[in-house]
Amino acid sequence: MIYNQYGKTGLKVSRFGLGCMRFPKDEKEAIEMVRFAIDHGVNYLDTAYLYNDSEIITGKALKEGYRDKAYLATKCPLGREFISKYEDLEKCLDEELMRLGTDHIDVYLLHGLDFDSWQKAQKLDALTFLDKMIAKGKILHKAFSAHAPLVLFKEIVDATDFEMAQIQLNILDVHQQAGVEGLEYAAKKGMAIVVMEPLRGGFLLNNVPAEVQAVIDAYPEKRSLAEWCFRWLYNMPEVSVILSGTSNLEQLQDNLRIFEQANSEVMPEEEWNLIAKIREAFESKKSIQCGACRYCMPCPRGVDIPEIFRLYNNYQLVKPYGVDVYAYQKTILSAGTGADQCVSCGLCMKHCPQGLKIPDLLQQVHQEFMELFNARARARGRDVK
Ligand SMILES: NC(=O)c1ccc[n+]([C@@H]2O[C@H](COP(=O)([O-])OP(=O)(O)OC[C@H]3O[C@@H](n4cnc5c(N)ncnc54)[C@H](OP(=O)(O)O)[C@@H]3O)[C@@H](O)[C@H]2O)c1
Repeated sequence: MIYNQYGKTGLKVSRFGLGCMRFPKDEKEAIEMVRFAIDHGVNYLDTAYLYNDSEIITGKALKEGYRDKAYLATKCPLGREFISKYEDLEKCLDEELMRLGTDHIDVYLLHGLDFDSWQKAQKLDALTFLDKMIAKGKILHKAFSAHAPLVLFKEIVDATDFEMAQIQLNILDVHQQAGVEGLEYAAKKGMAIVVMEPLRGGFLLNNVPAEVQAVIDAYPEKRSLAEWCFRWLYNMPEVSVILSGTSNLEQLQDNLRIFEQANSEVMPEEEWNLIAKIREAFESKKSIQCGACRYCMPCPRGVDIPEIFRLYNNYQLVKPYGVDVYAYQKTILSAGTGADQCVSCGLCMKHCPQGLKIPDLLQQVHQEFMELFNARARARGRDVK
């Protein structure tokens, strides 16, 4: 296992961190998996209050001496209704400490910050809360995770002295959310960067298009798509930890093997070209042929047309994965740049080199995303407007 600096904290962390969001159903198996990872050099675990029983299972796995062998990151579910006042923050943290069977959390994150929860963080004075918890020794380092767009990501990074940012990044999401630009921005400030969803939750590997497989097969160096995805990430020196939530022991063993040699800056130019070809092959499968030239912009109603089509294409590639649907709701609609603002004036169509019927497509995307979002909200028992 290769170890890396964790920003300015002085921690030395394994480049592969175990994501505890996708534990196997069988608790015994999950505990064995955590211990197997630690026994083989993983010293970073990422869980959250919101990952079903994950904190409880992780807590059990960390008994019998394992707690001292790994850094433990968990998260404050700030966006949820049951956190409505300052006191709720510490109450929740105390519950997490109890679930995890520990007296301190190494890294405590404000979970999944978006426009709404970031506002809530300020309203509830969550940043002061983090500092107070550090002073009390309940947490050692403060951090946040976000699927937020770059502009919000930078605002959060600049707001306080967070020690780590956890971002979604993979070969397809170079310019999505924080993206590589956000990664470099935060790293320049000395923050550790932890990557989540390096395989887009596994969906990058499910139903790999024949075009993508052909590119991989034609390359002389034989590596699986999973390995290429991880390699592209560990090649970046700014990335401290790459989290992956393995579903079984075979995947865990595979990832441990991959991360044995996970040194930064090892990719020659041909490998960069290969990753670009893999990306192109994925993107050739997109369903709206938007080339992101932005000739359609600016829209007089402020609709972010290229971004909406990009989210939709991403979503189509990795169905039924929901992050793009969520991003549409939480970032595009919240910012007032959604397809619901379109009045079909048709100005955009005059400039589109692909001849796309943009207003119709916007309507289709909006309808589909909202149906999915509302179905999910209903499944979680929430009211749908
Ligand atoms: N803070 C947040 O907002 C947030 C959001 C998402 C995730 N996270 C954290 O980030 C962690 C990592 O994200 P992730 O779990 O989505 O990571 P990921 O690596 O993108 O996806 C994990 C999935 O990829 C597949 N996989 C992993 N290794 C494999 C291998 N060697 N070969 C084949 N398939 C493999 C498995 O899917 P199959 O089951 O389909 O085989 C596995 O469940 C999470 O576990 C969680 O701790 C945080």
